[in-house]
Amino acid sequence: MFLKRLECSACGLGHEWSRLQNLCRSCNRPLFAIVDLAAASRTLTRETLRAREKSLWRYREVLPLPPDVEPVSLGEGGTPLLRASRTCGTDDIELWIKDESLNPTQSFKARGMSVAVSMAKYLGATKLAVPSAGNAGGALAAYAARAGMEAHVFMPRDTPRANVVECRELGAHVTLIDGLITDCAAEIARRKANEGWFDMSTLKEPYRVEGKKTLGYELAEQLNWQLPDVILYPAGGGTGLIGIWKAFEEMETIGWIGKNRPRMFAVQAAGCAPIVRAFEAGEKSAAEFQDAHTVASGLRVPKAIGDFLMLKILRESNGGAIAVDDQEMIRVAREIGANEGLFICPEGAACFAALKVLRSAGKIASGERIVIFNTGSGIKYLEAYDRELGQ
Ligand SMILES: Cc1ncc(COP(=O)(O)O)c(C=O)c1O
Ligand SMILES: [Zn+2]
Repeated sequence: MFLKRLECSACGLGHEWSRLQNLCRSCNRPLFAIVDLAAASRTLTRETLRAREKSLWRYREVLPLPPDVEPVSLGEGGTPLLRASRTCGTDDIELWIKDESLNPTQSFKARGMSVAVSMAKYLGATKLAVPSAGNAGGALAAYAARAGMEAHVFMPRDTPRANVVECRELGAHVTLIDGLITDCAAEIARRKANEGWFDMSTLKEPYRVEGKKTLGYELAEQLNWQLPDVILYPAGGGTGLIGIWKAFEEMETIGWIGKNRPRMFAVQAAGCAPIVRAFEAGEKSAAEFQDAHTVASGLRVPKAIGDFLMLKILRESNGGAIAVDDQEMIRVAREIGANEGLFICPEGAACFAALKVLRSAGKIASGERIVIFNTGSGIKYLEAYDRELGQ
């Protein structure tokens, strides 16, 4: 077992990993897994990786589950990194798309849930609850079913229909709430002790971010251990961004990459941009965004518990935060669809729109290598694409 302990991301307090728990018992902030990287890297090497299965469990030594325990898996990770060259305005840059829509349940949420459900099962949980903008609920429902556990998914009433139907068909107990994801989280917090639910909220649970960090490992491996100059990531809760950064730090410690980091950009919707506002105001944490609305349901997160971590990464990496309006996301999604053959989600589309903003502001030089994360499939957002195009 290479997992040593959990450590608070804010106050540094250590916690035993071997029991079910959520936030730091002293300051209520997210807990991070600390892996014995020296030991892990004795068997996990860049060379041994070549022969391993094409799944995120190929990075087994840096993931939390004990080596003799079978993971709860549906074939997550190992998604393609595709060169985009036909999209307008990309001829003088090297643009890559990490296409996460090929994961089980069609989004990158599968990564976090495979690892978190595996650990929750191992540590004795039987009933799992999650507030979700849509995709996390679908992923939890699938992995809980696979593990023989109960899933309780709380989603805003206006979550895309496909997410709701998917959760039900995967056997989850679905509750629709008149409110936002923060209201769903509050409902779970109120009921979980009585119901015996383990709270799987992102970053309130320590291991979803471990699954998401494999995005960073995979990206480095696919680019032959040369990180890109810029990463554009659609940030809601920010778990992916935080996980990718953690992977970079771990890989530097192992000696797989050097000190250089990509400039990290968080992309949000104009109708819900708490991180963009806080970044621009020079704040260390983000105030709750009032009247949040956007068709990019994964970005409809008015208050994120990992806000301070995201803001730190954006600044340390010399990156930034950009807001994009819904009309532009929908327009760009069609452009990418027609040019690159990918039916992307509005969250992914927001990153392409942000790329245009950065280019016209002169913040990306010609010849630079850019990676965009398409975090999910457009197929789950039919209402948004139909409505916005008036068809
Ligand atoms: C498709 C999609 N993209 C991005 C996000 C935001 O993810 P994160 O919590 O890692 O910021 C979500 C979250 O629901 C999502 O479903
Ligand atoms: Zn703490």
